[in-house]
Amino acid sequence: MTAPIWTKKDLLGIAELSDSEIRTILSTAESFSEVAERPVKKVPTLRGKTVVNLFFEPSTRTRVSFEIAAQRLSADIVNFSTEGSSQSKGETLTDTAKNIASMFPDFVVVRHRHVGVPAMLARELKAAVVNAGDGSHEHPTQALLDALTIRRHKGSIQGLTVAMVGDITHSRVARSNIHLLTRLGARVRVAGPRTMVPADIAALGVEVHYALEPAIRDADVVMMLRLQLERQSRFLFPSLGEYARLFGLTLDRLELAKPDAIVLHPGPMNRGVEIASDVADGPRSVILDQVGQGVAVRMAVLYLLAAARGGQIA
Ligand code: NCD
Repeated sequence: MTAPIWTKKDLLGIAELSDSEIRTILSTAESFSEVAERPVKKVPTLRGKTVVNLFFEPSTRTRVSFEIAAQRLSADIVNFSTEGSSQSKGETLTDTAKNIASMFPDFVVVRHRHVGVPAMLARELKAAVVNAGDGSHEHPTQALLDALTIRRHKGSIQGLTVAMVGDITHSRVARSNIHLLTRLGARVRVAGPRTMVPADIAALGVEVHYALEPAIRDADVVMMLRLQLERQSRFLFPSLGEYARLFGLTLDRLELAKPDAIVLHPGPMNRGVEIASDVADGPRSVILDQVGQGVAVRMAVLYLLAAARGGQIA
């Protein structure tokens, strides 16, 4: 008997995935990348299935990317965002969940500022739940698309040195990427001001720096992160200007990395703060490739979760 390709009901975080599940998502995403190059960008895989995009926090790339992924798989997709929803009228999350369940969606993609909301919905709903970012906890599909982008440019992740710079404490992108990239054999360095790096982060198997330069020296990959001001109770640095001066990636500083180093940023970028425009738009930047890989990764995730539900997959 062959093992089922996927058994998990939900995708809540990288930490809960096995090595073989990670490999399965990445290789499935590779095969979906090709759909984007076809004249007719659609496969019938999820015909008759409904995806609900539940975004309680702002999003551009992630929401649109799940939407395109669902449409390319022929699923129907409904977008729900906080503005205009009953949550802004005081409805509890449990009531929102019950109402959504009554409409029998097959997939719920959720982003929320509180850690654990996707896990709570996963327990309450029969639908497959995908975490599209919960507070400063996890953002698994972002890490998967980052890994796919790195692999496409560097061949393999094993043995690479990856520097992540910025607000590590509040970044769900950093947390998911630390889990994923260390598992795939990268040497991960994190760097940021002391006020934005958790004291116990080294326990996750990363090298810790409190300055940008030692972190990016001889790195193969430099990942810049946005200051998560919405998650900081007060600004954890004297000023934005000073942050940019000490932790912003400029062309001069990028010289410290390997000559063929690539630069990633999950977006949205604050140009002139964590990244200079000439780096963001320069030849080493793969920031727009990341966005492209996002669609393939989300197609792969929806496809695999449908397989676990015994959905007809073509
Ligand atoms: C990230 C997020 O929402 O966590 N953005 C994204 O999904 N592309 C990063 C961020 O907001 O800084």
